[in-house]
Amino acid sequence: MPSNGLPTVRLVGVGAALPDPCLSNDDLSQIVATSDEWIWPRTGIRQRRILPPHLSLVDLAAQAAKAALAQAGIPPQDLDLILLATSTGVERFGSAPQVQAALGATRAVAFDLTAACTGFVFAVATAAQFLQTGLYRRALVVAADVLSRTVDWADRTTCVLFGDGAGAVVLEAGETDGILSIELRSDGSGSELLSLSMATEAKPLVGSLQVGQYRCCPIAMNGREVYKFAVQAVPEIIEKALFRAGISAEAVQGYFIHQANQRILDAVAKRLQLDPQRVASVLEYYGNTSGASVPIALATWIEQGRFGAGDLGVMAGFGAGLTWGAIVFRWGK
Ligand code: UT7
Repeated sequence: MPSNGLPTVRLVGVGAALPDPCLSNDDLSQIVATSDEWIWPRTGIRQRRILPPHLSLVDLAAQAAKAALAQAGIPPQDLDLILLATSTGVERFGSAPQVQAALGATRAVAFDLTAACTGFVFAVATAAQFLQTGLYRRALVVAADVLSRTVDWADRTTCVLFGDGAGAVVLEAGETDGILSIELRSDGSGSELLSLSMATEAKPLVGSLQVGQYRCCPIAMNGREVYKFAVQAVPEIIEKALFRAGISAEAVQGYFIHQANQRILDAVAKRLQLDPQRVASVLEYYGNTSGASVPIALATWIEQGRFGAGDLGVMAGFGAGLTWGAIVFRWGK
């Protein structure tokens, strides 16, 4: 992006990690009053992956990170920065240092970033700033979420949507532009539409003094309103990012949009008059993996040879906060 002599940023490796255990729509119909006939046409989801209890979010994140580093050909010791985009970290003080330790990325500073399903896009934008200023040269962005550990498995309006997964990209400072534009937005006035919050309960402490104590609440969502927000906000932000990059929608080979609902992907494609073949879709197999869904879709397309070095791409996220954003990029070294 900068044309001022500062370093530019290239995206040089991507990886994904999906747990093996698979939960189908038919399986779900044994848990709540739902069916494949309801879930599939409304969402495009057939199955999702579930992280077994003996594994942690850090295990999943590290697995995706190793795959991305291997593809980039960069040893973990060469990383300067690790950002973990997650809303379901094992450690509320931050889980990124545990990912750093698991990778043996001894030189890297590591911290968490939370922006729900937009977390990966926000984290790539954040990491890019460190590289563009010249402070760091190599960064790893990992998005990982285990929403299966936070949903209410008795609530059919949410538990059928989400799955567990992680995805990662490696960014490297260079001389050729890899990140062509960034557009990010937040609107906290819509925060009640989608939440994974802590309730505060009052407890007597001593004498008349009360203290607040946190209690984790499951995911709560107003699906219809989030849907309306997404089909309006996502095409707009993509258009703005393309305009800022000076690139036409047709010039882009791959659109990697947050995988929440196939109908949202179809509506975005229609609004932007995109060839649906250029809009990545993997939610049939993995459901909504929150922040991880964009890099999982990117990793899948690169593995399948549908997207590669020199291709133009758009990544776009949207979700709780509310948050949304888009990045136009050129893939590879
Ligand atoms: O990453 C976070 C971003 N999240 C999203 O992007 C989600 C966006 N929203 C959506 O994808 C859709 O709104 C949903 C897929 C969540 C829901 O689809 P919908 O067509 O908006 O359904 P609805 O919420 O309006 O519910 C329609 C009916 C209701 O029954 P009544 O009140 O009409 O009798 C629900 O109780 O479907 C019922 N229902 C279900 N029935 C069977 C809701 N969930 C289920 C279910 N199985 N799992």
